[in-house]
Amino acid sequence: MYNDIVMEHFMNPQNVGEIENADGVGQVGNVKCGDIMKIYLKIDENEVIEDIKFKTFGCGSAVASSSMATVIIKGKTVEEALAVTNKDVLVALGGLPAVKVHCSVLAEQALKSAVYDYAQKTGKHYAALEGFDPSHDDHDHDHGDDHGDEA
Ligand code: FES
Repeated sequence: MYNDIVMEHFMNPQNVGEIENADGVGQVGNVKCGDIMKIYLKIDENEVIEDIKFKTFGCGSAVASSSMATVIIKGKTVEEALAVTNKDVLVALGGLPAVKVHCSVLAEQALKSAVYDYAQKTGKHYAALEGFDPSHDDHDHDHGDDHGDEA
C-alpha cells in the first residue's frame, strides 16, 4: 500500500521537533480526521528558511508528507516555500493511496499558518497568503452568520 520512499520517511522522519524562539509557528487541524500538525520556522534576514521542524498528532501519511515537505522547504526563501504544494510533496513521495491524500494537505496548511504568523510579527505581505485565514481550518464552516446590521 505504501511505497519505499513513504515508508522511509515514516520510519525515519526528518526535522521532527520544535524550534525555540521560532520566527513563525503554525498549527492546523485536519477537518477530515481531527489530526493536528504544528510547524516551526527559523527565518533569516534574507527571508531564507534556515530551519523548519514539525510535530504532529497525525497518521503515518501525515508524518511522511511533513517529513518530505520539510526536506523540500528547508533552505528555500519564504516565497519559494509558499509555492510548494501538497502535490509537489506527493510527487516527491512517489504518491500516497487516494484515501490518504488529504493527510498531505496538513503540512501545506501548517506551513502557510507558520508563515502567516511570521508575516504578522514582521509586517510582511505575501501574495500567496491572500485570503488565508489560519483560524478557519479546525472547525466547520457552518456559521450561518447573518449580521443583523440592517437599519
Ligand atoms: Fe489524519 Fe492522516 S488520517 S492526517
